Amino acid sequence: MGERDQYVVIGNPIEHSKSPQIHYMFGEQTGEPIEYKKILCPLGGFTRAVTDFFAEGGLGANVTVPFKLDAYDLATARSTRVEHARAANTLVNKDGLIHAENTDGLGFVTDIVRNLEFPIVDKSILIVGAGGAARGILLPLVEERPKRIMVVNRTPDKARELIKSIEADTKGFPIVLLSGGLQDVVEDEFDMIVNATSSSLSGDAFPLSSNVLGPNALAYDMMYGKDDTSFSRWASVAKAYQISDGLGMLVEQAAESFFLWRGKRPETRAVMEALRAT
Ligand code: ATR
Repeated sequence: MGERDQYVVIGNPIEHSKSPQIHYMFGEQTGEPIEYKKILCPLGGFTRAVTDFFAEGGLGANVTVPFKLDAYDLATARSTRVEHARAANTLVNKDGLIHAENTDGLGFVTDIVRNLEFPIVDKSILIVGAGGAARGILLPLVEERPKRIMVVNRTPDKARELIKSIEADTKGFPIVLLSGGLQDVVEDEFDMIVNATSSSLSGDAFPLSSNVLGPNALAYDMMYGKDDTSFSRWASVAKAYQISDGLGMLVEQAAESFFLWRGKRPETRAVMEALRAT
């Protein structure tokens, strides 16, 4: 391998990943000599791809859809967040071990609290969706001490199971936990709604009535794309005070990975602005 330290992002599809751009900007900004590539990995080929890359001297990997669970399985050391999310998005090759971390939830919280200046403490939060994306943000969200979290999902049992999985971690917190199906969200005063579904990928309308937000509410889409999504259209109709896509989360989770790998914390705002401009 060349002189630069090697990192990759592994996924399928991977073509549109912005991670190489982001990490190159971080590298330039901090003076860290890194090279960061994309690997399009065949389904079923994840273990091979990672072990080959690390055997050749690769130092770290980001993992994206659909391999975050495989990354969890492959790891030889896991953080609490990874154990909780049952998924990993960052691998570190160190001391003969493959360390797994999940920086998605931290990136999500940092974007909301610091970049959007929206404190989560005492807020009432509605999460729509109960797949991997929702699972990854739940514990970091609880740690911010909101007043109430409700998770709803097209398949209600998955929402119930997800809420059950954090009950032990919220003992002693004065937090109300609720779960149910999409029809269980009635007129309410949620301060924040998070779209953790993949419904905009399918082009389906966002599956909720529009009278669930209180004044000054934040509508946050974990997905990121250039165009309007069914969620952002829904949020306008629902009179959300602030609407955000997941670009900030994407950059912040990358910054956490970069910090784990290089021990330096990059500045994220300029990187977000550069990405918005392209
Ligand atoms: P991810 O890892 O991105 O969370 P996932 O684990 O496949 O992906 O979860 C996708 C989520 O989007 C699920 O909550 C899914 O609902 P189901 O559990 O009922 O499948 C939700 N979802 C996907 N398409 C949807 C749609 N058209 N309407 C409502 N929810 C949808």
